[in-house]
Amino acid sequence: MESTILLLSYLIGSITFIIGLKMLSHPETARKGNLVAAAGMTLAIFATIFLWENPNTHERLHNYGWIFGGLIIGTIVGTMAAKKVQMTSMPEMVSLFNGMGGACAMLISLIEYRKPEAKSMGEMIVVVLGMLIGTVSFAGSMVAWGKLNGRIKDRTIPGAQAINFLLFGGMIVLAIMVIGGFTSNPYLFYGILALAAAYGILFVMPIGGADMPVVISLLNSFTGCAAAFGGFLYDNPVMLTGGILVGSAGTILTILMCKAMNRSLKNVLIGSFGGQKAGTAAGDKEQGAYKEISLNDTAVLMAYAQKVMIIPGYGLAVAQAQHACHELEKVLEEKGVEVSYGIHPVAGRMPGHMNVLLAEADVPYEKLLEMEDANDQMASENVVLILGANDVVNPAAKDDPASPIFGMPILEVEKAEHVIVNKRSMKPGYAGIENELFFRPKTSMLFGDAKKVLQSLVAELKQV
Ligand code: TAP
Repeated sequence: MESTILLLSYLIGSITFIIGLKMLSHPETARKGNLVAAAGMTLAIFATIFLWENPNTHERLHNYGWIFGGLIIGTIVGTMAAKKVQMTSMPEMVSLFNGMGGACAMLISLIEYRKPEAKSMGEMIVVVLGMLIGTVSFAGSMVAWGKLNGRIKDRTIPGAQAINFLLFGGMIVLAIMVIGGFTSNPYLFYGILALAAAYGILFVMPIGGADMPVVISLLNSFTGCAAAFGGFLYDNPVMLTGGILVGSAGTILTILMCKAMNRSLKNVLIGSFGGQKAGTAAGDKEQGAYKEISLNDTAVLMAYAQKVMIIPGYGLAVAQAQHACHELEKVLEEKGVEVSYGIHPVAGRMPGHMNVLLAEADVPYEKLLEMEDANDQMASENVVLILGANDVVNPAAKDDPASPIFGMPILEVEKAEHVIVNKRSMKPGYAGIENELFFRPKTSMLFGDAKKVLQSLVAELKQV
């Protein structure tokens, strides 16, 4: 009876993960989707604690002190971290939590390896792969976390590709020896752990500039796979489903991010991109003069436009100007202006960042155009207003083969009649490179914090 309830709880848990994931795909249902999946996870955890029994000894879990101690500490730390985190620091937190998932998978494998019972080859494959992938994910995520919060600087490591290749080869050879039973020396197993940790660090370390989104989603998929191996190991269907869902969602996201950044997955896997920062690093190149535009002129230009496209970027999130932005959109529409938003897939600091930000301010979802659609209608726009975006509109991605972002598709704002850029200074964005768009004849700079500028612009527009 109890085993039936346990299986039923796992089934419900698995179904909630699938429903939750589906709901996460739309900003309107995403919050509920998260809760649905979390409820399923809670059910599965408590069912395991109270109903699971060891298939060999038929013993139940009894070390409640440790289990609930860990649960309580984890819940408090996780809740406080999530409540305190700024929206702009969310990617760092995601990286950190993802690393914790990798560390769990690593520890599970370590504990299972150290158990004295003999293991079949199948079990050894799962133990070794779970440990290997979990460790790479843990070490890589910690470096990604450090890079995103600025504690670790991008570093080009001489011969990084060759070292990564050797580390990877070393891991495979040791894994075959351990799995194939060619040796019972436990140090070989720990050797895999050390090589995997080094590989995780070295493969993320040189990746920088605009390339982090790809590596973050890749590490996410690694953690999912490692968790799925844990599910195999414990014959636990809910852990397996959860791991597979995270692994496959992360893989799909990685492919989408690769497409958005115009990078091949092969390059990501050997950690070869992003290191070369040649050419147009900020300050390297002489630029011409830029022209400024006043709030009043901007308001007049927009009020008499037929079509305006807003391009949001990371700066909009920093300024928390999403509500002011929605206000601007409403005022313009009252004046008969057609307003849309051009959304670049890697604008901001995490996948879907701009969609989430604008949904928070109740911007209608149908006004958000994906990059291709936005580019298709760019030529018919009278004014493009860029709000705290930089790299995603940088023409160097198209024109300058020496640029580290060369090849990344961008929002082609110069096809529009007028381009107005709002940011606080001439400083570069995430990739650390100069943006020639700011010096082009069609472009006018509207300096200031996005929120203050938008609030003043709304006030001006009401006067026009
Ligand atoms: P960025 O290129 O980072 O540019 C943001 C701009 O916002 C900066 O140039 C900054 O200029 C301006 N800004 C900052 N605070 C502001 C404020 N309060 N008011 C007005 N402007 C402000 O942003 P983007 O165009 O969105 O591109 C995203 C970049 O991040 C890409 O390189 C992407 O690859 C990378 N990245 C993306 C992700 C994902 S998945 N989205 C993850 C990691 C990295 P000032 O300082 O002069 O104001």
